[in-house]
Parts: sequence; structure tokens; C-alpha cells
Amino acid sequence: MRHFDYRDGNMFAEDVPLSKIAAEVGTPVYVYSTATFTRHYRVFADSFADTRALIAYSVKANSNIAVLATLAQQGAGADVVSGGELKRALMAGIPADKIVFSGVGKTRIEMREALTAGIRVFNVESLAELRVLNAVAVEMGKVAPVAFRVNPDVTAGGHAKISTGKKENKFGIAWSQAESTYAEAADLPGIQIVGVDVHIGSQISDLAPFEAAILKVNGLIARLRKAGHTISSFDIGGGLGIPYGNNATVPPPPSEYAELVKRLTADLDVEMIFEPGRMIAGNSGVLLSEVLYVKRGEDRDFLIIDAAMNDLLRPALYDAYHDIEPVKQGNLDQLETYDVVGPICESGDTFTKGREMAALESGDLIALHSAGAYGAAQASQYNTRPLVPEVLVNGADYAVIRARPTVEDILKTESMPEWLKTPLT
Ligand code: LLP
Repeated sequence: MRHFDYRDGNMFAEDVPLSKIAAEVGTPVYVYSTATFTRHYRVFADSFADTRALIAYSVKANSNIAVLATLAQQGAGADVVSGGELKRALMAGIPADKIVFSGVGKTRIEMREALTAGIRVFNVESLAELRVLNAVAVEMGKVAPVAFRVNPDVTAGGHAKISTGKKENKFGIAWSQAESTYAEAADLPGIQIVGVDVHIGSQISDLAPFEAAILKVNGLIARLRKAGHTISSFDIGGGLGIPYGNNATVPPPPSEYAELVKRLTADLDVEMIFEPGRMIAGNSGVLLSEVLYVKRGEDRDFLIIDAAMNDLLRPALYDAYHDIEPVKQGNLDQLETYDVVGPICESGDTFTKGREMAALESGDLIALHSAGAYGAAQASQYNTRPLVPEVLVNGADYAVIRARPTVEDILKTESMPEWLKTPLT
């Protein structure tokens, strides 16, 4: 069931017309559906209901605290990668013991914050980081629970920029160094080894790389246990892809993923940890935008919209496909072909080229679909365009969950040094 769909020719988010949100909040604006977040979380969680599993939603995908609180109510934990994300997760009511801390470059300050909060586990990615974490923990009189993120050297992921599990990637402990790293950790007073972690990539559209990674890790777990380490959790990261509507990649449903994972890990006697991000948030949001101008070029027509690459970076950065639909259902007998572009002064500010859609004109609203993950979270203020506001719909209600900053808000953080305060003579 789609929660962004037409009723009598007008697109709704759940029971709220998108045109109403555009009129009241302005465009561009991200619009999220509570029912979709909840359904995606439930589909994932329910398929692991018969196993010991922690679902640690990957906060980076969509980190708005109202979104986190929606998922927290469903029982979600969180996968965080910075002190900022940790703070968000705690504010949203996610218990510290359901928070895992990932990332290759944790700072001492972030380690301290996480140790103070009492998080479930640090996913450590290098010996250098391990030694610093040990020192910080000892200094604080604490013991840090640690899993090592190992790099299984498998190919996965929808795009080179989001593939992480190959040995040339910066992520994880090299496979050949995994056992010696555990051995070193075992001797450190501020470290308690609790598990193993992998994350092989994102927008993964077939199960084979997951299978390859799990089989490798299973072997590693056996060797680590033989060497005397206690391995009680296996975090397999996130990465399950979602349909973006272009049929090129139709990923397996979560139920098939769950079946595979359960089959391969049934005898391990571990708690499984998952870090899904896109799978939960991706299709829970749209970017709602207004057509500013239709520009008839010599050999192509441009739809110039009020959203730009700073608001939704994915097409510019990864050549990502997003479905685009008019909010007022158009006449499908009157198709036109457009390049859909934003106002930013770069050719890369293009959402799609040569897309066929019902004819549109200035003032029409469009929805860019599958924008709930890595949309608002990756936005910037390039060209001094204020961050896009975020709206959360819940049935017939909606609330602005991040306001649009004013240009004054942006300028407030900037200041003139003394030497520029006197006018030039
Ligand atoms: N865990 C770790 C350690 C990660 O690095 C990531 C994503 C996830 C979990 C969540 O992965 P997911 O389930 O969402 O695939 N900005 C890119 C995606 C970057 C993914 C980064 N890491 C995009 O828009 O496609």
C-alpha cells in the first residue's frame, strides 16, 4: 500500500493533500509518512520476531528527531556515527543500550559521550581507534563494549560511492588482520570484546553478497571462539536496497533477506544486530517542489523547479533515479519530455534528463519520490538556499518537524573580523 497516492486526481500523503502542505508550509518541502515509517520498521522487525535481534535504525538516512521518536515507539534502536547523531537518538527516546556507534573516525570526545551514555557497542574499525578507545575508557574508569567491523572483501552496493565491503575501501579491519586485532583487544583493560560487525554497502539489490559476507563471518566467529574470545553479537550492518521505481533494480523483499540471514546464522548462538537505513526511510518521504518555469530550449525542454541539488543531492552525486510525479494528476495523453533541473549554477543540478511526463506548467507541484532517506540528511545551504523544511504526516494530521531557516538565521553564524569593520579609505 502506498501512502503517497492519488485521490480524485490529487496526490495525498496519507490523508493530507500535498497541495495543502505546499500552500501552508511553502515549497520545496520534505513530506514524510508516519504510516510508511512504521510499516517498513514492522515488516523488518516482524520478520526477525522469532530470533534474538536488535534493529538499530541507521540514523544517517533520516535523522530528524521526530522520525527517530516514531521509530523508537516501535522499539527501534539506533546506529549512530557521530556525537550529534548520538544526541539525537537519546533525545528521541532511544535507550542507550539499543545504540551502536559506527564510523571510522570517532573522536575522543565522542567516545566519552558514548561511554557516559552507556551505549550497547562500539563498532571499532582500526587498531589505532581501539587503542584510543581503551585509553579513554580507562581514564573514565569504564570498560568499552567492542565489536570489530571487519572487511570481508565482497562486492556489493548500488554505486561505487556507496560500496564499502571491498578491501580497497577505507572501512573495517582488513580480513587478514582480524584475528590479531581481537588478540590485541583481549589484553586491553578498557575493552570488552562482545561481537563482530560488517557492513558491505548500500542499495544492495541481490542477496548473494550478504550470503558471501555472512559465510565468511561465520568462519571467523568459529576461529575467534576457538581462540577464547566471547562473541555474543553479530552485526550485519544495513544495505538492503529499495525499489526506486525505475525497474533497473528490484531488490528482494525483507522477508527473503530475513529468511537467508536466519538460515545462515541459526546455529551461531548470537544476537543479530541490523542497521537498516534506506529500507525504512527511503520510500517514507517525498520532496515536494513547485515548477518555476518551463524553458523551451532548442532541442530539449527544461522544467526548472524550486528544489535543487543542495536539497536532494542523490541524482547529482550518484546519478540516482527518483520517480517524479505531478501532484495534480496530469493528462497522460499529453506527454512531454523534460530535463528536470534546479536553480543552482551547476549543470550537475539536474534531477533527470529526458523524462516523459504529463505536460506541466509554471506553478504546478511535483513530488520527487523515494526521498525519505539521504535526502534532507544530505542537504546543504549551497547558493545560500535555506535548508528545506520537513513535515511529518500522521493520518489526517501533519506537523512541521524542521522549520525552514530564514536567510537571517544563516547569516547569524557569520561575522566580520575586526580588520574588515572599518571602511576602506
Ligand atoms: N551501517 C553503516 C555502518 C553504514 O555506513 C550505513 C550506510 C548503514 C548502516 C545504512 O545503510 P542502508 O541500510 O541505508 O543502505 N548517501 C548514499 C548512501 C550512503 C550509505 C552510507 N552508509 C545514498 O544516498 O545512496
